[in-house]
Amino acid sequence: MDKRVREAYEYIASKISLKPKIALILGSGLGFLANEVKNAQHISYKDIPHFPYSTAPGHEGKLVFGELFGKEVVVLSGRFHIYEGWNPTDIKLVIHTLKLLGIERMLVTNAAGAINTSYTPGDIVMVKDVINLMFRNPLRGPNDEDIGPRFPDMLGAFDRDWMEKVKEVFPEMKEGVYIAVTGPTYETPAEIKAFRKLGADLVGMSTVPELIVCAHSGIKALVFSCATNMAAGVLEQPLSHEEVVEVANKVKEKFIEVVRKALEVLE
Ligand code: 6GU
Repeated sequence: MDKRVREAYEYIASKISLKPKIALILGSGLGFLANEVKNAQHISYKDIPHFPYSTAPGHEGKLVFGELFGKEVVVLSGRFHIYEGWNPTDIKLVIHTLKLLGIERMLVTNAAGAINTSYTPGDIVMVKDVINLMFRNPLRGPNDEDIGPRFPDMLGAFDRDWMEKVKEVFPEMKEGVYIAVTGPTYETPAEIKAFRKLGADLVGMSTVPELIVCAHSGIKALVFSCATNMAAGVLEQPLSHEEVVEVANKVKEKFIEVVRKALEVLE
């Protein structure tokens, strides 16, 4: 086990006595979910040894431990993006720390651009597979055999049982393939056309590094994208982060409901 992971873990464990098995990672503009946590105990990322901290607008940068819709959870309010300058290995450190804390399941959310023209801004889409176009991998380097195999199967990242249960509650929910790019530029219309041919429905700048570490370490994930806007070239209008945050905010109630149900169907 990486010494830095152990130090991060020990700091958190010295502050918090809760032992949640579920972690939630909140995407751009979706941080409001952290406010729903009852009996919340916060730890700022900046106080945790070796932890990266979020610099992206709309991301807060703290761990929130407590109860969410009847389940003990830790919420990562604010995530770490490659475009901020963090390395995939920083994301690995965070997930490994969660693993050491006892996390078994992860609910990952993100704001994404819609490549699939049948989507509408505000749609909440269940991600069924991903394409890694970041050309980086958090597992690069020596493998920690105690955590997982050298060559992990990526399908292992998704909790298919959990996904099925959510689909039973929301049979109308769209499912899609998420393609991850590093950003921070949004895509060109030509890139979006190409991604559509590759089979992608959604595009974003996060999630895949986390999923890779989950696949390796045996954490099972459920991923929701909020399609905040149509991707470049679909509509004749420029893309903006303000629009992303605004639409994410508009679907607040719907998003909270989806997460509530997703937690309720467990156990
Ligand atoms: Cl259009 N592209 C990317 N890469 N990320 C996004 C997005 C688009 N919309 C929200 N997040």
